[in-house]
Amino acid sequence: MHECSDNMFKIVVSSDHGGAELKSFLKIHLESRGYSVSDFGVQPGEKSDYPDMALPVADAIIKGVADRGILLCGTGIGMSIAANRIPGIRAALCHDDCTARMSRRHNDANVLIMGGRILGVQLAVSITDVWLETDFDGG
Ligand code: RB5
Repeated sequence: MHECSDNMFKIVVSSDHGGAELKSFLKIHLESRGYSVSDFGVQPGEKSDYPDMALPVADAIIKGVADRGILLCGTGIGMSIAANRIPGIRAALCHDDCTARMSRRHNDANVLIMGGRILGVQLAVSITDVWLETDFDGG
């Protein structure tokens, strides 16, 4: 479990309209745990195309502006396809704690993707916490 400190990850979050509501809950959760969170949009009620929302997050990670990214769309599939087109991005679409844990341990995923129309808030929070707290095994 991370302590609240300046050494915690800088996280960028973004979504299309299919993931905006879940993103709002996750952002509140992450900030309550002391993470620095930049929200690249969209907000609930706004519409957007998922590739337009994925690319700025990928860019922030590649440039070292942020350590980790979290992307949401309706199913997570579109965001996964878009983010993984960017060299250096290892985006993992996760549906449970196990896939979240293994995406860190075995894949060193630097972007977590979830489906806003697939997951409930409680499960999404759990996935996010596991993903942020699990280290890469290396090798
Ligand atoms: C938007 O309606 C929806 O198609 C999108 O959020 C996503 O699920 C695509 O993969």
